Amino acid sequence: MTELKPLTDATPIKTPMLPDAQTVTHVEHFTDDLFSFRVSRPQSLRFRSGEFVMIGLMGDTGKPLLRAYSIASPSWDEELEFYSIKVQNGPLTSKLQHIQPGDQIILRPKPVGTLVHDALLPGKRIWFFATGTGFAPFASLLRDPETYELYDEVIITHTCRDVAELEYGRRIVEALPNDPLIGELVGDKLKYYPTTTREDSPKMGRITTLLQDGTVFKDLGIDGMTAETDRAMVCGSMGLNTDLKEILEGFGLREGANSDPAEYVVEKAFVG
Ligand SMILES: Cc1cc2nc3c(=O)[nH]c(=O)nc-3n(C[C@H](O)[C@H](O)[C@H](O)COP(=O)(O)OP(=O)(O)OC[C@H]3O[C@@H](n4cnc5c(N)ncnc54)[C@H](O)[C@@H]3O)c2cc1C
Ligand SMILES: NC(=O)c1ccc[n+]([C@@H]2O[C@H](COP(=O)([O-])OP(=O)(O)OC[C@H]3O[C@@H](n4cnc5c(N)ncnc54)[C@H](OP(=O)(O)O)[C@@H]3O)[C@@H](O)[C@H]2O)c1
Repeated sequence: MTELKPLTDATPIKTPMLPDAQTVTHVEHFTDDLFSFRVSRPQSLRFRSGEFVMIGLMGDTGKPLLRAYSIASPSWDEELEFYSIKVQNGPLTSKLQHIQPGDQIILRPKPVGTLVHDALLPGKRIWFFATGTGFAPFASLLRDPETYELYDEVIITHTCRDVAELEYGRRIVEALPNDPLIGELVGDKLKYYPTTTREDSPKMGRITTLLQDGTVFKDLGIDGMTAETDRAMVCGSMGLNTDLKEILEGFGLREGANSDPAEYVVEKAFVG
């Protein structure tokens, strides 16, 4: 077995096979700060839609440089998809943003996470609240048939600074009703609520504000949220997560976990 070589800015990313190496099959750039990519899936990898894994590249020191990444593809997909930020001086993404089909990344096949259906009690309506790259776990859950089997209504809210940052999510949501595999299941259950905070768009504002002043409910024709009917998953910055938790608790929802399912679950989209 050959070793993965340390990656420097000058070295191509193509590296020899290792047990945890997967091959990049597709890369798409959405903005200067956001891109998505697909990689081969280890045959033995089983995961629940919404979970995350550690992925990365070989660092300059010869040690793997790994970061947590939500799997954006659904559990039935034969490849794995990821949706990523490009932090220009970020140890991993300053390099990861240059990957191309045929390159290899490291993927530790140990999926974990709380944004899974098992962590919620049965309900009628599920809310997916995402900001920025926090859309990634919901890109998985929205493409999973189980989501539509479990709930009568599925609402995805996505808040970004600019309109271009909504594009990855918008494309996934808009393709769903015509998807040959789950389009029929999706039917008219899915509602999409994109908002921006810094660039003009049809719906402006932080999702927290729009929930607190009732705008979201008015726009969607919903009375409000209750612990009997509503379930929620949240994925954003620490600030968003903290603020939304308080709002959801105000509606009477309690935080759940894999070991103790309840009415909502939260995961960080990033640390810092
Ligand atoms: C559970 C979990 C799941 C995650 N899933 C994803 C994912 O699906 N896609 C993804 O792009 N990142 C995700 N992240 C963040 C990811 O682990 C890395 O932080 C990111 O890839 C940047 O790595 P880096 O080494 O370049 O910079 P880091 O040193 O890791 O980060 C530098 C700084 O960049 C900012 N930052 C990092 N990640 C993000 C982000 N995603 N959005 C906005 N600002 C950010 C923060 O201010 C951070 O302090 C996740 C993090 C956690 C904890
Ligand atoms: N996105 C970019 O264009 C960009 C570019 C370069 C660097 N960065 C850096 O990357 C980091 C993350 O940027 P990001 O835009 O991906 O993520 P982010 O800062 O978490 O913002 C994503 C969205 O969430 C909203 N939000 C943030 N905190 C919230 C809260 N407590 N309650 C409700 N809504 C909240 C933001 O609204 P507000 O606009 O009102 O905060 C924004 O619309 C930052 O450190 C930033 O400086 C971002």
